[in-house]
Amino acid sequence: MSATADKKAPLPDDIRAAKGGTPLVSLTAYTTPMAQMMDAHCDFVLVGDSVGMVLHGLPSTLGVTMEMMIMHGKAVARGLSSAMMVIDLPFGSYEESPEQAFGNAARLMAQTSAGAVKLEGGVHMAKTIAFLVARGIPVMAHIGLTPQSVNTLGGYKVQGRDAAATAVIADAQAVSDAGAFAVVLEKIPQSLADQITADIAIPTIGIGASAGCDGQILVVDDMLGLFTAFKAKFVKRYAHLGDDGAAAIAAYAHDVRARTFPAPEHVFADQIPAPAKGK
Ligand code: KIV
Repeated sequence: MSATADKKAPLPDDIRAAKGGTPLVSLTAYTTPMAQMMDAHCDFVLVGDSVGMVLHGLPSTLGVTMEMMIMHGKAVARGLSSAMMVIDLPFGSYEESPEQAFGNAARLMAQTSAGAVKLEGGVHMAKTIAFLVARGIPVMAHIGLTPQSVNTLGGYKVQGRDAAATAVIADAQAVSDAGAFAVVLEKIPQSLADQITADIAIPTIGIGASAGCDGQILVVDDMLGLFTAFKAKFVKRYAHLGDDGAAAIAAYAHDVRARTFPAPEHVFADQIPAPAKGK
C-alpha cells in the first residue's frame, strides 16, 4: 500500500493486509496544519502521547491526559482525508482493567473520529486488546521500549538485547494473537525486529528497530528538527525547522527595532487610488 492524494483513508484491515508489501509510512501529528502536510504521504497518522513532550514541554509522556488527547485528536482529524488516524491511549487510561480501557478508547474514538487506538504493552495487555477488538475497537500495540513505563524500565534504553529478546518475542506474539492489527516496535535490536517481522502475522511498525519492518514511524517534530531538546539515535532529521524558525524570529526582532518592518507594502494608504480614466 502507498498513499496518494486522492485515495480513501485505509481501514485497520487494509493496514493489516499490507504485511510484507510496500513499507507503511507513518508520522505523528498533533495539529491541523501538520496533519494536512502529511495526509497525502502517510498511510496512517498517529496522534501520539509524545505530544506532551514535544508540544507541551512535559518531561515524559506520563502527564498526558485524555482531554489533551481529545483536543489534539480533533485538530488532527480536521487535517486528514486520505490517511487513517490512530490515537494513543494516555498513561493511566487503560491499564487498570479491560473495562476502563474500553470506556476511554470508545470516548477517544467517538470524540475524535480516530480509526483505531494504540496502547503500550505486550503479554500483560493481551487480554485488554482482545476485549477491545471484540467490542469494535481496532488496536495497534506498542512493545519494546514503551515510554509510559520509563520509570520501571530504568530509562529510555534499548530493549530486548540478549536474553531479554525472549520476552519481546513473547510480547509480539501475544498482541498478534490477541487481535491487534499492527504493532509498533520501539528501540530494539535490528535482528530482533527482523525476526519478529518474519514470525508474526501482523505488520510491524519500526521506530529505532529495522528497515526490514513492515512500516516506519517517526515523531514529526523530531524529523523536522522542531524538537531540539535531545535527538535519539534512531531519528533522522529531514529538515532543521527549529534553527530556521529561530533565525527568522531573530530577523523579525531586528527589523522591528530598526523600524524596517512594517515596510510600505505592509501598511495601508488613507485612500484607495481612483482607477485611471477609460479603464
Ligand atoms: O507517542 C508517540 O509518538 C509514539 C511513537 C513514538 C510511536 O508512540
